[in-house]
Parts: sequence; C-alpha cells; structure tokens
Amino acid sequence: MIGAIRKDFPILSRRINNKKLVYLDNAATTQKPKAVIEAISNFYLNHNANIRRGVHTLSEEATAKFEEVYKKTAKFIGAKSVDEIIFGSGTTEAINMAAKCFENSCFWDKEGEIIVTEMEHHSNILPWMSILDRKENIFGFSNVKNLKVIRINKDGILDLDHLKSLLTSKTKIVAISHISNVLGTINPVKEIVKMVKENSSALVLVDGAQAVPHQKINVQSLGCDFYAFSSHKMLGPTGVGVLWCKKEILEKLPPFLFGGGMIEEVYFDKAVWADIPHKFTAGTSNISGVIGFGAALDYLEKTGLSLIEKQEKELVSYCIDSLSNIPGLTIYGPLDISKRGSVVAFTLFGVHPHDLASVLDSYGIAIRSGHHCAMPLHNKLGISATARASFYLYNTKSDIEALVAGIKKAKKIFKV
Ligand code: ALA
Repeated sequence: MIGAIRKDFPILSRRINNKKLVYLDNAATTQKPKAVIEAISNFYLNHNANIRRGVHTLSEEATAKFEEVYKKTAKFIGAKSVDEIIFGSGTTEAINMAAKCFENSCFWDKEGEIIVTEMEHHSNILPWMSILDRKENIFGFSNVKNLKVIRINKDGILDLDHLKSLLTSKTKIVAISHISNVLGTINPVKEIVKMVKENSSALVLVDGAQAVPHQKINVQSLGCDFYAFSSHKMLGPTGVGVLWCKKEILEKLPPFLFGGGMIEEVYFDKAVWADIPHKFTAGTSNISGVIGFGAALDYLEKTGLSLIEKQEKELVSYCIDSLSNIPGLTIYGPLDISKRGSVVAFTLFGVHPHDLASVLDSYGIAIRSGHHCAMPLHNKLGISATARASFYLYNTKSDIEALVAGIKKAKKIFKV
C-alpha cells in the first residue's frame, strides 16, 4: 500500500546530496501527489478565469470547481453547512481573521481575558495579544494584560485543573492547539470545550493545523466554535487555509477585510455585506490553490484517514522506541502513543539541533530544527531549539532507520 502511495509523489524519488531523499519535515509542509499538481495545472491550462464575476463559460467553470471545494471541505471536517467555511491563506491568516472579527464583535469587551496554552504556536498567541495590546508600538507588543496561559506538566500534557482555575466571567476566548507542533501532544478538545462552556461564556478556537491532516476530525462533535487549518500540511498547495466557524456565531461577526466580492450593495454613504461566508472573503481568492486543495481532500478521502492514522501511530511508536535507545538523546512530549500525534521533537546532548539537521541533510534526510514558532514553549522547556522529525502517509520504517543511522553518524562527527 505505501509503495503505491509513494509512487504518487514524484518528489520522493529525488536524490539529495547524492542520497535517497528521506522527507521527515511534514509538520512544516507535506509533499504533493500528482493528482494535486495536475488539478492545479489543469485549472490553468483549461479553465482559468475569475470566480463569481463573469457570465462567460470559463468563469462559470472556474466558479463551479471552486464551489465544489466548499462542499468537500465541509464534509471532510463534519461542518453543518458550507456557509461555515471561509478560505484564507493558511492557519495563521485564519486565526488572525477570527481574532480581528472577534475584536469588533458583540463577543468581546475591552476588559475581556483570553486563555491560551504554553504549547501554542506563535500564530495562536500573537493574534490574541494584538487584541489585548493596549499600546501602539511599531517595534512589538508591550504591556499585554489579561492573557492567561494554561500550564503543561512534565510530560507535555495540559493541566486541566489549571485551566479550570483560570476561567472567569471575563474569559472571552480560549485558544488551543489540537495537536502541538513540537510536543506532539493531542489535547482533549472535547473535554476542554465542555469545561470552558460549564465555567464561562467564552468561545473556543482550535488550531487544527497538525490534526486535520492526520486524524478524522468532526468539528460538530468537538463542540468548539472556531477551527483553523492549512491545505499545505495535508497534501494541498501553500496559500490556502480554512477557518471554520459555527454559523450562529459567524452571523454575528463583522468582516475585517473590505473590497470586491464581500458586498451586496455599495453607495458612498453606506454598504451592505454579502451573506456568510462571502462577506469574509474580500478580493480574488486563491482559486487554483483551493481547487488543488480539493484534489488533496479527494486523495485523503480515497486513502482513508483511519489508515493514515494507524500507519502513523506505528511509525511514531517505532521512532520513539528507536530514538530512546540513543544515549544523550532526549525526546519531548508524551511517550504514551495514544496521546501523541505524528511529530517527535528531540535534542542530542552536545549537538545544536541546527548542526544535527545539517549533518542529516548531508545524508539526504530532511528534518526541521529551531524553535518551530513556539518560543514560549521552548523557554518553558529551558532550551532554545529542538530537532523535529514529523511523518505522513508516505513515510516508512526505513525512513526512521535512516534517521537513527544519521543521528549515530552525527554523534561520531561531533564526538558525543
Ligand atoms: N508551523 C509549521 C511547523 O511547525 C511551519 O513547522
């Protein structure tokens, strides 16, 4: 099965530094199957036109192909309606959009408090700080108040008693990642939503960038209010992301981007917005990208998320077992596989993660090193960087064996 899957990804037969490519940086971005690449080129070769703006054949074809992806996306995440889907450029823009619309809505007041977690990506911290920042500062935020942070324990698991103690009548948003991009921790979103709703009137936003590609998500059963994710982490092109929001909430949010396509009527003294979701998408969308994303969803549906999840669990388990046998190597996040997604971050005593990543690259192995856009988490862990291997449906046990062999060679080179 994996052999057939790998054949769909032309880049996997590339050689890097004269070695077979071992691609283990899927949490940063995934490779693209031929079906996605062809969907994008087919659009430009045969159907290119702007959408919802013309009555000519090409425009109608492009519009039909684009609209189809709303349906596929809604079905993929179990949304109640296509009206709940907003396409943007990625998870980052989706969360920024949610924050900006939220800031100007009836849900927010200036005394409000926001709760995030210690394991958040910067994209799920900074947009909320921007609401709380009370000082204009061209160099950065200062004096941010009312941002509360849920602690993690030593295994990288959220302390839910701490969350409970942080919830007050002033809490307006609880913003959490579904799966940490560093620790791999799978957060119990359903349980968190229940706790938040029982103890406050806050809305819950989930950063699902590392979850939607790897396990079947149903936004309705999770119970959250917003859910954000990116196309490029799930076989689709870059520049496409999704913000899902419950219809009854979306209807109460004002737009934050203004321009073509988001209006019903415009005069010089007033304007009327289009219905949801279009009032949130001003300007020309990434049409080819969304169509490519549709092809990625088809590919994932055809392969089956349950198979992908099962294969990845086996890989993560094998990876953790193999890395645990390397002296001087520390793995971060839960070791219980049932609580962990498809990333494994680690450090090797005496070797900077960037140096380790460079040595591995010389053997054709691609991993990510650095703070992974989670500086506060690394500060908490008392380290400046980690090395991170992350998996997807085309990875095999031999990729992990190559990683382990590469790390052992690095140990020899650095004499650690
Ligand atoms: N957020 C992406 C990562 O974790 C880019 O690598």
